[in-house]
Amino acid sequence: MQKRIYLSPPHMGSEELNYIHEAFDSNWVAPLGPNVETFEKEVAEYTGTKGAVALSAGTAAIHLALKYVGVAEGDYVFCSSLTFAASCNPIVYEKAIPVFIDSEPDSWNMSPIALEKAFEAFNKKNARPKAVVIVDLYGQSADMDKLLPICKKYRVPVIEDSAEALGSSYKGKANGAFGQFGIFSFNGNKIITTSGGGMVVSDDLDALKKIKFWATQAREPYRHYEHKEIGYNYRMSNIVAGIGRGQLKVLKERIKRKKEIYNNYKKAFYEYPQIKMMPIADFGEPNYWLTVITIDTSSGVEPEDILLKLEENNIESRPVWKPMHLQPVFRDCEFFEHEEDIAAKLFERGICLPSGTAMTDEEQQRVINIIVGCFNKKELGKPI
Ligand SMILES: Cc1ncc(COP(=O)(O)O)c(C=O)c1O
Repeated sequence: MQKRIYLSPPHMGSEELNYIHEAFDSNWVAPLGPNVETFEKEVAEYTGTKGAVALSAGTAAIHLALKYVGVAEGDYVFCSSLTFAASCNPIVYEKAIPVFIDSEPDSWNMSPIALEKAFEAFNKKNARPKAVVIVDLYGQSADMDKLLPICKKYRVPVIEDSAEALGSSYKGKANGAFGQFGIFSFNGNKIITTSGGGMVVSDDLDALKKIKFWATQAREPYRHYEHKEIGYNYRMSNIVAGIGRGQLKVLKERIKRKKEIYNNYKKAFYEYPQIKMMPIADFGEPNYWLTVITIDTSSGVEPEDILLKLEENNIESRPVWKPMHLQPVFRDCEFFEHEEDIAAKLFERGICLPSGTAMTDEEQQRVINIIVGCFNKKELGKPI
């Protein structure tokens, strides 16, 4: 069996271990410490925001951002449907109710048409959501110039879920910097990783202070342990932040390689009209976190055939996220569609391809050969 090719495995640079050693040498093997503070500063600088708080996960970042904007029991929160469950699970942690918004076809991100429909429907019943969670899917920005004015019109705060989009931008401005809060994930599969971790960024320094307070068990500033509020153990450790500092140094390189990988696939699939690349909208510059394709099933080839063939050859691939409005756990939640249910269509047809930055050209060719082989009706297609 040939070496396994993963979807997006961690890819360490040369400096991560130095920061970990520094933490060991100074015995900062603890939550918090100098790596955490520096990592926060660096991410804030990178995204052009005034501050950042490093947390144990992107999910924790979404949770505390929602809590800060006042999401509480019985409130509604609008959220992109085509995403990972972590975008909306924290809504339910606060006993609030998610309402799912469809994708638009140009970027697969939240549809302004569906968002407007949702606001109008709520307006009719004199209701308003407490927040809108806008996801930047697979490393590509949502169409902020269309979405943000709608949220502004109804005076509802935005949380930008940029878990997958560190390093991406929209009309020259970094993703993560659009809402009242932006959040990032450093989970093992992300463009850079700390093994696990997250960050919330914002221009509102008071809000970040409060989030930091909640994330450190809501400890009041007394010598003894005094608590007036419920807190969380959500902070990032100094060791983990050391990995993050090293990884941030190679982020630009990683984006460059991700783009090359996307372009290699694009070139290879050019002669196969049955295979469509995930569209890249002209309003932004993605980080190309994952290359995603859709399959025209009138060709007789189903996405499942390709997924199975890749797995037989020890290659990891995945269907596109199953939209949240189709998940059993959210079956009672409302959903507002674009003009037809775009997210469902993308789920039926989409495949995420191996996009690891340490993947060699030869390994990528292996992936390509198997995919085009499915259309050529050959076992393994010749190199193209
Ligand atoms: C869109 C999206 N939101 C949120 C998360 C949650 O991040 P984490 O795994 O760091 O909690 C992820 C990834 O895991 C994600 O892809």
